[in-house]
Parts: sequence; structure tokens; C-alpha cells
Amino acid sequence: MEMKNMQLDTKLIHGGPLLDKCTGSSSIPIYQASTFHQAHFTESQEFTYTRFGNPTRKALEETIACLEFAKYGYAFSSGMAAISAVLLNFSKGDHVILCKDIYGGAYQLVTEMFPKYGIEYSFVDETSLSSWREEIKENTRGIYIETPSNPLLTVTDIRGVVQLAKQHNIMTIIDNTFMTPIYQNPITLGVDIVIHSATKFINGHSDVTAGLVVTSDKEIANMIFKTQKMFGSMLDPYDCWLVLRGIKTMKVRMEKEVENADFIAKELQNHSKVKAVYYPSLANHEGREVHFSQASSGGAVLTFDLGSYENVKDFFANVTIPIVAVSLGGVESILSYPFTMSHAVIPEKERLDLGVTDGLVRLSCGIEDKYDLLNDLVQALDHVKSEVSLQGKIL
Ligand SMILES: Cc1ncc(COP(=O)(O)O)c(C=O)c1O
Repeated sequence: MEMKNMQLDTKLIHGGPLLDKCTGSSSIPIYQASTFHQAHFTESQEFTYTRFGNPTRKALEETIACLEFAKYGYAFSSGMAAISAVLLNFSKGDHVILCKDIYGGAYQLVTEMFPKYGIEYSFVDETSLSSWREEIKENTRGIYIETPSNPLLTVTDIRGVVQLAKQHNIMTIIDNTFMTPIYQNPITLGVDIVIHSATKFINGHSDVTAGLVVTSDKEIANMIFKTQKMFGSMLDPYDCWLVLRGIKTMKVRMEKEVENADFIAKELQNHSKVKAVYYPSLANHEGREVHFSQASSGGAVLTFDLGSYENVKDFFANVTIPIVAVSLGGVESILSYPFTMSHAVIPEKERLDLGVTDGLVRLSCGIEDKYDLLNDLVQALDHVKSEVSLQGKIL
């Protein structure tokens, strides 16, 4: 069947290479080799050295490109390696605009590395198109977005930003980790480069760190490939194989995770100990309309506010189903505390200005039974001493 006629469920299994060409093996083998024999050493051949290319990595790179409707894909050793490979290709004198609600690691990379290379940057309120527009300067070369954002699930209008960028010949980059290719395909909306932390939903089992980058632009693809080769930040064959395996079940996993997140978000919204719930499917979410014009689900991550560190402490001490950990996107539910985990690298004042307060809890829903999960969260909330006053509750 031609790829263009395949539904997503079929593409996840047959979109990339499924069988090993040499043996017919039903799983692409782990080509655990650093180098390849060159029978005609003066002639080029497809694989020569794993840092330049490896058959297991190639299978993963073709698969992610196919799922994101892109022409080229690249696999890195982590999401941060992927983000670095893209962002460190800007040059001295360039200016890059980024969303202010951004993953902490990307914030640290920009604020600590860009000045060393003479690259200028600005953070903007990602929810307002005029903020992006007003920040464009003569030397603006890149726009970087995350939508929905981490941890506050704010929404950026992808089409609007792309239109602005195209008017000014600016390259657009998106971190699509939260939505995955299952629910949001930014290349089809005109974005130039899509990045994933495949550590999260794409691999899906909390046992690999990996990053992916896709593009349909040949020039950008060459730049990414060269950077992957020069930085030596490619994903190793074994982890490529694990991610390939994770991809096959990504849709069935994510459907359950999203169902759980949707259910939990709605239930927590009515709980007296919860000050606010941030989740794009909720009727009162500011970016709901824009989000559903560019994505097909609210995702599996929600953030809620318990009002204070003390309340979070009581809550975390009593949950039994979700693990408390950095990360998201596993088959097990994961609770995290952005204030000291994913966003700890952002200076405290800026963190608070962003709304990343000490009462915020992020929940990545796994595939457990949704009532078990809810009952566990509710019994843990019973241990939280202070109720949120109605005046403080964001309805
Ligand atoms: C949205 C987002 N982007 C990028 C990253 C970085 O990915 P990694 O930890 O695989 O380097 C993370 C990690 O939490 C993330 O949440």
C-alpha cells in the first residue's frame, strides 16, 4: 500500500522499515558495530562508521520522518542533544525569539551558551501573536516554540507564528514532545524544524534518553546531519532499537494516557484542595480553541496548583500509584515538581514571574486504570491540610 493512503495506526507499524532486508527478521536488528568493512576502500558505501550512519539508526530516522510528514529525520542521544544541534547552528549576530514558558534545559542552553557565541535572544509571551511580531528585529533568524508548553500548558498559534516568520524569512523550530506525531504534525502547518525528546511518549517506557529532529528542507537537513556527526551526539544502536519498538505501540499507549489525563483534569478541577488545573481540553483553558485547531487531543500531561510547597509535600508523601520523578511520557504515571525539578535551572524570580510557583504539580498520566489513579490522587489530597479558598480558585 502506498504510504499516502495509510492510516496512522498502519503507519506506526509499516511507515518505516519493518523487516531486516538481509534476513527478513521481524525486528530491525541492533547493528552493534562502530565501523563497517569497506571491501573497495576507495569507493563510498552507505555505512562506513556509526557516528556517520548506522542501519538501526537509519530505520528510526526514516520512521520519525514518515510519522511527522517530513523528508529527513535524525536521532540524538537526548532531547537536549537534539535541541543543542538545532540551536547552536545560529551564528554570531543572529537573534532568536523563544517562548517564555520553555523547558528548563532549553532555557539554560540559551541563556548560558548563546552569549558565548554572540547570539542574541528574547523570550516572549507565547500566547500573544503581537508579542512575537513586536520582537522581530532585522537580525532575527529563528523562532522557537513549545506548544502546549511545559509546565503550564500554554498554547501558541502555530499557523500565526509561521505566517509571521515566513514574511520575515525566519526559520521556525518547535519542540513537539508533549503532543507527539500522533496528535500534532507541525511540518504540515509550515514549521521548518520539529524536535522531540523521544525519552518521553515516543519511547514511552522510561528506559531510554533520546532526541529526534525532522525537517523537509534539504539545506536544513544537511546542517542537522553535519552537526550530529561533528558533535557526535547521535543515538546508539541499542537505544534506536528500543525507540523503534516503543513507536509501534505509541498510539495505543497514548490513547489510554490521554483518556486518563482528560478524566483526571476534569475531576481535579472540582476538588476543594486544588487551586487551578492547566490542561488544554478544559472548557476554561485560554488556548483551547487555538490548540484544537492545530492538534487533535489535549495530551497526557496536566499541571495543577496546590497553593504551596507544604501542600505539595503532604500530597507527594501520600501518593502510591504515580512515581515522583523528573520526566513524563512513561506507561507509569509520573508526578513531578517543576519548581525544583524540570525548571530548577531558571533563576527563582524568573521562575515565579513565569508562574512556575512552589504549589505547582505536573502529572503525566500512564496507562493505569483511571479510577485507581483518581482514587489514589484523592486520598493523597485528603492529607493536604489547607483547602484552597474559593476566592483563590481559578474557575
Ligand atoms: C518539552 C521537553 N523538551 C525537551 C526535553 C529534554 O529532553 P531530554 O531529557 O531527553 O534531554 C524535555 C525533558 O523533560 C521536555 O520536557
